[in-house]
Order: sequence, then C-alpha cells, then structure tokens
Amino acid sequence: MEKITYNFKNRTAVVTGGAQGFGLDIAKRFLKSEAKVIIWDLDPKAIENAINEIDNPNLSSKIVDVSNFKDVESASKEIIKTSNIDILINNAGITGPTAPLWEYDIEMWKKVVDINLMGTFNCCRSVVPNMIKNNYGRIVNVASVAGKDGNANASAYSVGKAGAIGLTKSLGKELADKNIAVNAVTPAGAKTRILDQMTKEHVQRMLSKVPRGRFLEVEEFTSLVCWLASEENTFSTAAVFDISGGRSTY
Ligand SMILES: NC(=O)c1ccc[n+]([C@@H]2O[C@H](COP(=O)([O-])OP(=O)(O)OC[C@H]3O[C@@H](n4cnc5c(N)ncnc54)[C@H](O)[C@@H]3O)[C@@H](O)[C@H]2O)c1
Repeated sequence: MEKITYNFKNRTAVVTGGAQGFGLDIAKRFLKSEAKVIIWDLDPKAIENAINEIDNPNLSSKIVDVSNFKDVESASKEIIKTSNIDILINNAGITGPTAPLWEYDIEMWKKVVDINLMGTFNCCRSVVPNMIKNNYGRIVNVASVAGKDGNANASAYSVGKAGAIGLTKSLGKELADKNIAVNAVTPAGAKTRILDQMTKEHVQRMLSKVPRGRFLEVEEFTSLVCWLASEENTFSTAAVFDISGGRSTY
C-alpha cells in the first residue's frame, strides 16, 4: 500500500529509542516527509547501523539515556542552539524481564519505571519550554496496552506505561491553549527486538488476547504516530490512541 506523505518540511523531530524497531520506522517516514530527524538512543551499534542504512543528511543522532535528565537536557540544548524542536516522539522503552511482582528484582523494577516513565518526563521537561516559546509542538508518548490493562508478570512495565498515559493527560491539558498537542499511543505486541526481553509464553499470552489474531506491523504503528505528529492534528490532545487490534475496550 502506498503510504501518505505528511508535510514535515522545516520541522525538526526528536525520536527517542529511534535506532531500531518502532522508532527507526518513524524516523524513516519522517525523513521521507522531509523532516529533520535526531535520534536519541542508548545503543551505539544500533545507531551506527541505522545511520548507515538510512544515509540521509537530514538524519543525525546522539547517545542519550532518556532516564538521565542531564543527558537529555544537554542533548536538547545542543539542538535548540540552531533550531526549534517541533516534534518529540517519546518512544524509548524496555519491558524488563517477565516475573511476578513479589519476585521482581528491586533495582530492575526501578530501572523499567525510570526509562518508561521518567524518560518520558525528562524529555518533555526539557523540550516543552522551546515548544511554548515557538507556540508549536507535537508530542507523541509511546505507551502500551500494558499501561491500560496491566499485564501479569510485567508490573514495572505496566506501571511505567500507565504513568506515561497519566503524564500525557496532564501535560496535554497544561498546553491546550497553545498550538501544542500531547497524545499517547497504546500498541499491542509487534515483532521488534523488545520481545526478546520477555519469555516466549508471555509473548504468546499477549498475542492470544488480540482479537485481530496477529502481531501489529511496525508500519501500521508509524501511520498513527505520523498523523498525531503532523500539523493536521489540530484538535486532539491529552488523549490516548489505541492500536491494540481490538484488545482494549476503552
Ligand atoms: N514491540 C512491541 O510489542 C511494543 C508493544 C507496546 C509498546 N511498545 C513500546 O514501543 C517502544 C519502542 O519499542 P520497540 O518495540 O521498537 O523496541 P526496541 O527494543 O526495538 O527499541 C527500543 C529502543 O529504545 C532504546 N532505549 C532503551 N532504553 C533507552 C534509554 N534509557 N535511553 C535511550 N534509548 C533507550 C533501545 O536502545 C532501542 O533502540 C517502547 O517504548 C516499547 O515499550 C512496544
């Protein structure tokens, strides 16, 4: 299917966790629509592969740990020296291992929440002042159906994503009188590298709950994110957009 090209000309987008999976596909589609894209990711090898594969002067990258506010702040200051940040896709995330809450490693539990929730907070905290100054911004927070439903044996991940949904609703309202939209998306399982962090049984259980009876395709997800990140989204904000193949009922 031929994909619609959005007009992202003269727009600068930061895509966290953009070195692979959902983030990389979003970055590619933004570039195709003439945006300037900066990937913030932790994984140097994946970044190198992405840059080599895409080979586009409008793409740049920086090693950033989104759970570290200082890292995030210095990366956004570097961009703001020469351009605004028009689009922020808070996509970096980890699931952490699959385990019941009462057996979950305490440091790992904190880390999963730190990356999924505090990472989203840190990036918004750092980038939003520039969007306010410019009276323009589109923020998409990549949550998960786990944040709505709560997945067994994934308490930290479910909490991190539920927190990102709450953050979206608050921040969207705080910015609603400006041309800034803040929305969250809640995908079901897609075949990216993140699935390797969970047991096969856990992934199978996730899939069994999806009425569509299949995994979400990465490109299907990108289509939703692109509209939310585009100028065409002039009204929706503080909202949660479901892309769970019928799994969630709200
Ligand atoms: N694939 C799925 O089934 C699925 C379902 C629901 C939600 N999600 C969410 O989608 C987002 C993207 O996941 P994906 O499936 O593309 O996974 P992925 O593992 O392919 O990509 C995630 C990227 O985030 C990066 N990252 C991890 N921690 C980071 C940190 N602290 N700072 C910066 N970058 C960091 C990784 O290096 C990686 O490149 C995640 O937030 C994930 O929770 C994925």
